[in-house]
Amino acid sequence: VDISVSRITAWNSDALPIYEPGLDEVVKKCRGKNLFFSTDVEKHVSEADIVFVSVNTPTKTQGLGAGKAADLTYWESAARMIADVSKSNKIVVEKSTVPVKTAEAIEKILTHNSKGIDFQILSNPEFLAEGTAIQDLFNPDRVLIGGRETPEGQKAIAALRDVYAHWVPVDRIICSNLWSAELSKLAANAFLAQRISSVNAMSALCEATGADVSQVAHAVGKDTRIGPKFLNASVGFGGSCFQKDILNLVYICECNGLPEVANYWKQVIKINDYQKTRFVNRIVSSMFNTVSGKKIAILGFAFKKDTGDTRETPAIDVCKGLLGDKALLSIYDPQVNEEQIQRDLAMKKFDWDHPVHLQPMSPTSIKQVNVVWDAYAATKDAHGVCILTEWDEFKTLDYQRIYDNMQKPAFIFDGRNVVDEAKLRAIGFIVYSIGKPLDQWLKDMPAVA
Ligand code: UGA
Repeated sequence: VDISVSRITAWNSDALPIYEPGLDEVVKKCRGKNLFFSTDVEKHVSEADIVFVSVNTPTKTQGLGAGKAADLTYWESAARMIADVSKSNKIVVEKSTVPVKTAEAIEKILTHNSKGIDFQILSNPEFLAEGTAIQDLFNPDRVLIGGRETPEGQKAIAALRDVYAHWVPVDRIICSNLWSAELSKLAANAFLAQRISSVNAMSALCEATGADVSQVAHAVGKDTRIGPKFLNASVGFGGSCFQKDILNLVYICECNGLPEVANYWKQVIKINDYQKTRFVNRIVSSMFNTVSGKKIAILGFAFKKDTGDTRETPAIDVCKGLLGDKALLSIYDPQVNEEQIQRDLAMKKFDWDHPVHLQPMSPTSIKQVNVVWDAYAATKDAHGVCILTEWDEFKTLDYQRIYDNMQKPAFIFDGRNVVDEAKLRAIGFIVYSIGKPLDQWLKDMPAVA
């Protein structure tokens, strides 16, 4: 259920409101049988035995904790609504990523308005990643369920465990107390983001020393204690979760009198910001210290491949940096449309995380930005090309054709290490790949961070 009529209409149509590989098939197979979409929130909540609450928890933009703490307004009103409409006992499952101890606050709202109804709160954080969501749903590494350590709490945990046990092996269903489950979600995202910041920090050192970050990551990842996944150096991590969850973690640490721990995690975000700035500086410095009036092609705008999602995508910061230096941008992404790109480039930090009607009205579009539907149109007459998302199609473009149609010297800045640098150099490009040994050209034009 959702209060948004347009979203529910889309869920009930052939054009689902989000792009996710495999989602169409699942929805088509189950819709009308055991999967229904409705705006009649109160009716369906009152009839349910288990209610999953997946409202968004944006970062607060105003007031106490602004820029860090999670805004629980939507969660609180969902809890009050559940209390209002319930006539029978319910298990309320916290699915949204929330600060530690949110469940306790929600429990207070529900029990103080309960009219004798028993509410059990469980925390069941979601670990799926975009682009592989359906695969992650069918075959999760683990499912985590946190609940009260009372007999009623344990009974509620068992009820939810039985639901998952229909397709998840029982040894992958982990049960814990409420706070462990809530914190594990923030901790898991913080660890993942930290891995990327670690390899990105190494990428800067690789460029300075002539090492190759892919070789270093491969060697490091062969240690089974470390493992090979999630070690790709990039222009920076994006997405709706990593930065938001770490900021939230930082805030919780500060509130609990742990400034050292807060500062430790803050550094993961600082390195991510540094990586994006470093990338922009590389572009500007190699192009004779100015990109003013130069056409730069941006290939990829989504925060990763196989999604049309642009929330916190590093492309926003890179594009804003280049626009700050008066570049003319020609942007192509296979899944992101012009309206979204213009909105993103006009929006302030964290506004993206609020419902559309609460976001500032989109101002007139940015004139220096042109959105096109083809990589060849984007790169025609460009001085430089930036690859910001690792879409597979960027690996197989006809780079000779691109080179022939560009201004010379022709530059490629690969923020995702998808191109074959040797091949491109042979064509005539000046190539910058994150964390790879530098072209002589780039060595002669050092970037100041
Ligand atoms: C992330 C987590 O991976 C999920 O487990 C979690 O459930 C989810 O957040 C969430 O909290 O909702 P997601 O944001 O969809 O999932 O995407 P990731 O695959 O984690 O990628 C995040 C960012 O890191 C992307 O910008 C990606 O390009 C970047 N990344 C990833 C790298 O730069 N290098 C890597 O090696 C891996």
